[in-house]
Amino acid sequence: MTTTQPPTLRWEGGADGTLVLLDQTRLPGEAVELRCRTVEEVWQAIQRLAVRGAPAIGVAAAYGVVLAVRAGATNHTGLPRLHHRAEGAEANWRDDAFAACDYLATSRPTAVNLFWALERMRRAAQESAAGAVEQLKERLLAEARAIHEEDRQMCAAIGRHGADLLAALPAGAGVLTHCNAGALATGGDGTALAVIFELVRRGKRLHVWVDETRPLLQGARLTAWELSQRGIDCTLICDSMAAQVMRQGRVQAVITGADRIAANGDSANKIGTYGVAVLAKAHGVPFHIAAPTSTFDLSLADGAAIPIEERGRDEIVRLGDSRLAPPDVAVYNPAFDVTPAELIRAIVTERGVVSPVTAEAVRAATGQATG
Ligand code: MRU
Repeated sequence: MTTTQPPTLRWEGGADGTLVLLDQTRLPGEAVELRCRTVEEVWQAIQRLAVRGAPAIGVAAAYGVVLAVRAGATNHTGLPRLHHRAEGAEANWRDDAFAACDYLATSRPTAVNLFWALERMRRAAQESAAGAVEQLKERLLAEARAIHEEDRQMCAAIGRHGADLLAALPAGAGVLTHCNAGALATGGDGTALAVIFELVRRGKRLHVWVDETRPLLQGARLTAWELSQRGIDCTLICDSMAAQVMRQGRVQAVITGADRIAANGDSANKIGTYGVAVLAKAHGVPFHIAAPTSTFDLSLADGAAIPIEERGRDEIVRLGDSRLAPPDVAVYNPAFDVTPAELIRAIVTERGVVSPVTAEAVRAATGQATG
């Protein structure tokens, strides 16, 4: 099972290099690279979902901080002016990195991996010698590369643990997924899709049911594309068809990614995931989440406190150039919902499987205190 899929994101060059993203707004029509040379360009790319998926957003933002620390860094969108300082006031380069972290944190609110990665970049800047700009840039690039590489490894480990968990699925089993938690959403092979890729690599014959994922169609545009690239058997359905295929007995397991998991295991993921979990429960189908430990936010006791991004009306009332609804209709467009822990059979992390999903099991798996 090989793929010629271009990398979701890569860094080109040394500390003065460029972040190159695969522009996901253009898929599956065309694989176009988007070159980001400023932190503002990275902010825009995250905000308009050119790069998306919780882990990939974190990796992109980390590289964005590297871009912010250079002479001539621009200032279009509210970032405090980066290179305006008195002659010889080099100690402020670190402040540029801190300002970039604050700025990138405003790009999207739900995926905690973004804040996790920015916290690591902030610490890396803090640990660098004040005034030594070349050293700071090298240190920031090394940290961004480490976040990227660790994500790649986390994806591989999630794939292995998830494949062990689902090894007993019968040949030809149906696995349903929602949104895109594949290579396009991470620095590696994905989370939920990494599990599917690993099962197939081990010789398991599967059929993947792909929810189209309204309104932005990450399932139809991205997951169906990734699975097709790898020659994995799949069928695309509208979100409203999941109940029907479950009732028909065609789905033996559900697996999705997550954007933020609270201390009790409540999990935020793409809008519609909660509905899929309720349907899975009603049909006796086990529902799983696959996510790295960087997706856990143990500062939140439960999912009620997870900030849910609301996006613009055009995502719902328009499709490309076509208008789908009356121009003045009221619109509500939450980008994520929260699946309660009791609907989740297991959470697969790079460290192993959390099941049953309880606060104690989450704490043990993540090795962090809830405070
Ligand atoms: O709005 P998106 O496309 O960034 O939403 C992505 C998801 O909801 C994914 O399922 C989640 O980030 C996990 S990706 C491994």
